Amino acid sequence: MTNGVGDLALFGGPPAFDRTRVVGRPRIGDRARFLDRLDKVLDSGWFTHNGPLVQEFERKVAETAGVGHCVLVTSATTALELMLDAAGVTGEVIMPSMTFIATAHSARVRGLQPVFCDIDPVTGCIDPDEVERLITPRTTAIAGVHLWGQPCAVDRLQKIADANGLFLYFDAAQALGSTFEDTPVGSFGSAEVFSFHATKVVNSFEGGAVVTNDGELAEKIRLRHKFGMNASGVVCREGTNAKMTEACAAMGLTSLEALEDSIRANIDRHADYRAALAGTPGIEVVEFNPAHHNNHQYLIIKVDHAENGLRRDTLLDLLRAENVFAQRYFSPCCHQLEPYRTENPVVLPRTEALAEQVIALPTGHAITTEDVTTISELITRAAVNGTELTRRREAVGVS
Ligand SMILES: Cc1ncc(COP(=O)(O)O)c(C=O)c1O
Repeated sequence: MTNGVGDLALFGGPPAFDRTRVVGRPRIGDRARFLDRLDKVLDSGWFTHNGPLVQEFERKVAETAGVGHCVLVTSATTALELMLDAAGVTGEVIMPSMTFIATAHSARVRGLQPVFCDIDPVTGCIDPDEVERLITPRTTAIAGVHLWGQPCAVDRLQKIADANGLFLYFDAAQALGSTFEDTPVGSFGSAEVFSFHATKVVNSFEGGAVVTNDGELAEKIRLRHKFGMNASGVVCREGTNAKMTEACAAMGLTSLEALEDSIRANIDRHADYRAALAGTPGIEVVEFNPAHHNNHQYLIIKVDHAENGLRRDTLLDLLRAENVFAQRYFSPCCHQLEPYRTENPVVLPRTEALAEQVIALPTGHAITTEDVTTISELITRAAVNGTELTRRREAVGVS
């Protein structure tokens, strides 16, 4: 299987898979339970406005995260925006660039200036030493991102925030079910935000949550997510409409019930990939620090062009031609995208080096061990023939 590349789908051969294998195939959980919940919603006519399923999902997310309060909203992006508004954050927010663009945009649309910070090259998460270096009189907040489900250095970041009087929050969009040591992600900083987007380890079609132990902050967010109305329906201030629907909560609850099983499947596929790709030149399966638990929703490999001559984007194209829809999580990263790259150009060497190398592969319940074998064989073929592939691509003007 490792000889030659001419019969690959990229060059006109038949694809390895007849059905697409994707990153983050939605996990429904028990379909019958979901449909039963949905039926009850339809019968009750209570579709939205803090219905019983939203209330139950809020309780269960708070329990999973080990916090006192959860406010469900329509997406993690909205959750970040409402949380920043409710906390009254102004000025500059120090954050990593190695994240989804929503981390930055949610601050910018609130009138804040994201200040991009370099990363710990091992984890890819924000580097606390760099955070300290970037603090100015305009800094008011630090945003950590639990990249690929790994907790960032929550303890060191809290010390820096306390020493400098800064608001600390975490974009935990990818990290439900992960822990820092034995403490669940969700309880760190002043607030954390989860995403229940369809690709996440728990999904509610679309959805997000702010979790916090600060009851006052939770109430401020709750006001803002429903037109500024309090529990009695009196409008006390301006606000938006970011309420989660009962149909979304039905999916969220059902998907949450499958969380443990989803994580188990993710861990199993991670072991399959590790075994199948061991010894493949210039390909590293990213391992996570065993001091913490990871939800393993993200199976990340690094492609070392210097070692195998293979370009990361060539491998992506090659896999997609075979119906393996791998992703660049995250490349380009935030400071390389508009409006940030024009408004405030910065160089982040460790972020840029990592972003150039990473690929997220399909994993978990959506694929089988046999699928992993096939995908890994394709990757191995690409790595062994890296220089040849680069030459062929360059010959047709693709770099
Ligand atoms: C790190 C990170 N932050 C924020 C988001 C945005 O989440 P949502 O799509 O729920 O707004 C995502 C989703 O992909 C993410 O991965």
